[in-house]
Amino acid sequence: MSLKAKNKLAIILSIVIISYLGIVACGPQKSAEVPDYAPKREMSVKEKQYYREGQKLYTMYCANCHQEDGSGLGKLIPPLAGSDYMEENFSESICGIKNGFKGEMRVNGIIYNQAMPSNPNLKNLDIAMIATYIYNSWGNDRGLIDVLEVEDIMRDCP
Ligand code: HEC
Repeated sequence: MSLKAKNKLAIILSIVIISYLGIVACGPQKSAEVPDYAPKREMSVKEKQYYREGQKLYTMYCANCHQEDGSGLGKLIPPLAGSDYMEENFSESICGIKNGFKGEMRVNGIIYNQAMPSNPNLKNLDIAMIATYIYNSWGNDRGLIDVLEVEDIMRDCP
């Protein structure tokens, strides 16, 4: 075999090996990308990234009260799963993630009146990720909530 042919063979072999490794390395990750309570539609790479980071933040900051499955806690903590309040009061919900809530609010026909503490450490990107997670879990399906949108909303919070 000529040197040229050997080089060609080496290149082809490397491509085969690299693509094989790529498939093996990425295969299992793909199936674990988003949980089964996420919408069944295709998500962009960015939305998936927000979603997964949002899930971690939700577990740290919110799940104690609103529960892992977003169902809330009786008459004390309102649900985020299928919440008509979140649907109808988008800006208030975004502001509330950082600033907390107080006073009466009605969620899915039930009146709640317990203060939710503020989370002053959350950056706009954290809020966007948490919002993307809760607005696309447990039956909710609003799509990506971008950090630029959150920035606009946060500027006008009461
Ligand atoms: C200490 C418990 C507690 C924690 C922690 C908490 N919340 Fe709340 N949340 C509440 C309560 C209580 C209300 C109702 C407030 C009221 O009655 O005015 C509420 C209301 C809400 C609402 C609007 C009502 C609804 O159910 O749609 C949203 C959205 C929300 N919380 C999201 C979050 C997110 C996101 C986090 C994490 C960053 C979080 N909460 C952390 C207790 C909590």
